[in-house]
Amino acid sequence: MSAEAKRIQHLGIAVRELEPAIAFYRDQLGLPLVETKEMPDRGLNVAFLRAGETLVELLAPLHEGSEISKFLDKRGEGIHHICFDVPDILKSLDELQKGGVRVINKEPSIGAEGYPVAFLHPKSCNGVLVELLEERSP
Ligand code: CO
Repeated sequence: MSAEAKRIQHLGIAVRELEPAIAFYRDQLGLPLVETKEMPDRGLNVAFLRAGETLVELLAPLHEGSEISKFLDKRGEGIHHICFDVPDILKSLDELQKGGVRVINKEPSIGAEGYPVAFLHPKSCNGVLVELLEERSP
């Protein structure tokens, strides 16, 4: 059994500042801005833009010392994670762990999108931080 990933739900991009990044993706690239959101518990300032069936998630730090500012210090701006939509996140996490995949979150939490999400370890995903998301209607 597989995790049954269906599509790329969104692409997470780490940016130093949200406004100039929105100015590029919305005004120059032409993607509609869906929403912006502050997530103080994660030290994140987030924006979602629509690119067809996929979203672009811009992740900026709210303050120094947050997880995303550590990423930016180490790696600079760029692709942070890829998120795949799965029909049943608990089942996916179970199947992946049975298959020897290292998961960062054994239990899903509610992500910026308002849906259950969980991350897989880049060591098991060819160097890419992979997020799984179950897009349930609220
Ligand atoms: Co994400």
